[in-house]
Amino acid sequence: MKKSFLDYVLKIRLPIVLFVALSSFALTYFVSRPERDGVGYEPEQPIAFSHKLHAGTMAIDCKYCHADVTKSRHAMVPPVATCMNCHSVARKNKPEIIKLTQYFAEGKPLMWKRIHKVPDFAYFNHSVHVNKGIECQSCHGNVQEMDVVRQSNSFTMANCLDCHRNAPTVLTYVPNVKKGPDNCFACHR
Ligand code: HEC
Ligand code: HEC
Ligand code: HEC
Ligand code: HEC
Ligand code: HEC
Repeated sequence: MKKSFLDYVLKIRLPIVLFVALSSFALTYFVSRPERDGVGYEPEQPIAFSHKLHAGTMAIDCKYCHADVTKSRHAMVPPVATCMNCHSVARKNKPEIIKLTQYFAEGKPLMWKRIHKVPDFAYFNHSVHVNKGIECQSCHGNVQEMDVVRQSNSFTMANCLDCHRNAPTVLTYVPNVKKGPDNCFACHR
């Protein structure tokens, strides 16, 4: 009686428990993958601002709004004042612009939802990449075609290293590009 129960546990229960545990791990691993890597993250923003319209159709330079991108670590999202350079006149009577004007009049910052992010223990710097001639699109995808910005590449360590080690083959449009660093201290300072 004892023995056959043990047999049952070892031969039937245990494999079932292991199978369920392993397959649910595998399932959550792959299902939660976009969330972990950030790929596909496309939050709704407080104002329906379209890159496709501004950076695509109207071809406003990325750096007009992301003014710090050649000077510092961060690209920065523009303050409402930058929008008002045009929208104190353009489309003034549209509901989204009335909202925008209200933020400006009250001096309230727009709380845009952050999309791309590397953890604090990793060091990333926009200016070294952008001043080398690497285009925004190499890392962010075709933002000028997006009505709502979404993350199109993952920024895992493997992904940074993949470009760093293969830069001359990946970045053929950048003249004289050298490999990026792959020593730990370059990114973990
Ligand atoms: C007229 C101003 C303006 C222009 C021009 C512009 N952007 Fe933006 N950008 C914004 C604003 C405002 C946000 C925050 C709201 C949003 O995510 O849509 C933003 C957000 C972004 C983000 C996401 C930031 C995050 O939270 O991770 C990326 C990436 C980006 N822009 C890239 C670009 C690129 C590349 C170009 C040029 C092709 C460009 N932008 C042109 C205003 C602008
Ligand atoms: C260089 C001028 C310029 C700047 C800077 C600019 N816009 Fe615009 N924006 C326009 C013009 C022009 C239109 C109308 C384009 C059209 O409909 O053909 C427009 C359209 C819009 C619309 C759609 C309005 C509607 O319902 O028709 C929104 C929303 C908007 N802009 C938000 C913003 C925000 C937010 C910023 C700042 C991050 C910004 N814009 C910066 C020129 C600008
Ligand atoms: C080599 C890859 C790479 C290139 C090239 C690049 N970005 Fe980024 N971008 C990133 C990474 C990684 C983050 C997240 C940074 C962080 O969390 O500090 C980011 C974040 C951002 C953000 C969010 C706010 C911020 O300042 O961190 C904006 C806006 C942005 N990028 C715009 C741009 C624009 C505009 C260009 C081109 C002029 C550009 N990026 C070029 C990788 C890149
Ligand atoms: C080109 C930049 C870069 C280099 C070089 C680099 N890392 Fe990273 N590392 C990152 C980024 C970005 C992250 C955060 C994203 C992630 O977890 O993949 C990270 C995450 C990590 C983590 C946390 C992993 C996790 O799953 O959360 C460890 C540990 C780590 N790195 C160790 C190292 C060691 C050891 C080296 C040298 C052999 C190294 N890194 C070289 C960019 C880099
Ligand atoms: C599309 C290609 C590409 C991607 C993606 C990329 N890098 Fe780089 N990175 C480069 C190149 C090329 C260089 C060398 C630039 C030079 O020669 O000065 C570089 C240089 C660097 C440096 C050295 C900067 C300095 O101060 O000397 C750091 C740190 C760095 N990258 C971090 C990162 C991190 C972290 C990521 C991922 C979140 C990343 N990079 C993603 C191409 C890339």
